[in-house]
Amino acid sequence: MRLHGTQLVNEQGHLEIGGCDTVELVQQFGTPLYIMDEAHIRDICRQYHSSFIEGLTNAEVIYASKAFSTLAMYRILDEEDLGIDIVSGGELYTALQANFPAARIYFHGNNKSREELSMAIKAGVGRIVVDNFYEMSMLNDLAQAMNQRVDVLLRVTPGIEAHTHEYIQTGQIDSKFGFTLTDGTADQAFDLALSFSHLVVKGIHAHIGSQIFELDSFRHEVQIMIDYMADIHERTGYLLHELNLGGGFGIYYASGDEPARISDYAKTVQDALEDACQNQKFPRPKIIIEPGRSIVGTAGTTLYTVGSIKEIPGVRKYVAVDGGMADNPRTALYQARYEALLANRAKEDAEEVVSITGKCCESGDMLIWDIDLPKVKSGDLLAVSCTGAYNYSMSSNYNRLTRPGVVLVEGGHADVIVKRETHADLLRNDILPARLKYLQMASR
Ligand code: LLP
Repeated sequence: MRLHGTQLVNEQGHLEIGGCDTVELVQQFGTPLYIMDEAHIRDICRQYHSSFIEGLTNAEVIYASKAFSTLAMYRILDEEDLGIDIVSGGELYTALQANFPAARIYFHGNNKSREELSMAIKAGVGRIVVDNFYEMSMLNDLAQAMNQRVDVLLRVTPGIEAHTHEYIQTGQIDSKFGFTLTDGTADQAFDLALSFSHLVVKGIHAHIGSQIFELDSFRHEVQIMIDYMADIHERTGYLLHELNLGGGFGIYYASGDEPARISDYAKTVQDALEDACQNQKFPRPKIIIEPGRSIVGTAGTTLYTVGSIKEIPGVRKYVAVDGGMADNPRTALYQARYEALLANRAKEDAEEVVSITGKCCESGDMLIWDIDLPKVKSGDLLAVSCTGAYNYSMSSNYNRLTRPGVVLVEGGHADVIVKRETHADLLRNDILPARLKYLQMASR
């Protein structure tokens, strides 16, 4: 397993993160356990800050909350001077409860509700990214009723097929998101938005997909978007000042993944922007990017305890851990690949090939297919790396498993930032109707 951030193997042969021995973390907090490396998150935030905000000057970096949204995460982002994007009332509520400045919040989503939109207007979020005609008129009506003018970006689908899993591609024409750029729909959307009294159209947004390694996809995106912004200017005389390029910068999960450097990403955007603006004689807009995965992905590690082991001679050896697709559905959903090591025996050489499965009641509940590990024993601790993005945020209570807790480690300290769920939490919203209570009593 490649080590990330502050991960190291200490003298006892244990995996250490943020100065905390993971074997001790397990004694204190149990498994499964998500561990987030605070110094690593801050380091990446700073790389984004220096490459984009300082490097490109007129630029903003907003973290895509969907990757990992908790109170503590929003405080770190605020301290690191980044903005955020949110896609639901729930993410907005969490950010506001964390005292995150509303002006640095962008609100996305293809089906925002009336309640969510009015919550956002009331809170004074910085930008609402309008996705469709239904939302556009609802937003204008709401803003009018609330006697406020709302700053918006319009989301377009630029027709770019980024090389990534089809479920996380979003720039192609056949997409549920945004106004199609190539068939005149986006033109209509801008014309309509400009005619609405309570919407102030600041700019344009696109997101071409996620886990993208080819910087060329972003270069292409910049070019298409600047061409289109120039087009709007020519057609309507209206000048858009903001270009939001979405997120999508890929990260390392397992061998073979070769992500670019954040500074190269920034340089690609910068160069593409200069070229495109020069070609079109278009004034350079403010650039906004929305990284999610690349800010938290490699900063997260999940610790599990190994339980049953099943060997089918000549076929496969299944090593089962005390979590699975309920805390990490990405292998089942996207054929995601992960690396792992035995956190309690991290110095030992690999001896066998095994597959890591979870404890959910279905065969698709796999975490890692075919990984080299030392001879694994029940009771060993398995650390799976790069689980910081889209793991906790996509976790479920499938099979009524309780969600693991999240611990933030830094300089030898470990703070619980999300409590482990209990069985009682599972019943928090269950209600037994009176007639069923009666039947239950009667049947005894
Ligand atoms: N902005 C918008 C509008 C997005 O839709 C997304 C991700 C991002 C930014 C952040 O993209 P990132 O930098 O994290 O790649 N659950 C999937 C990923 C879905 C991403 C959805 N949108 C996964 O686990 O791979």
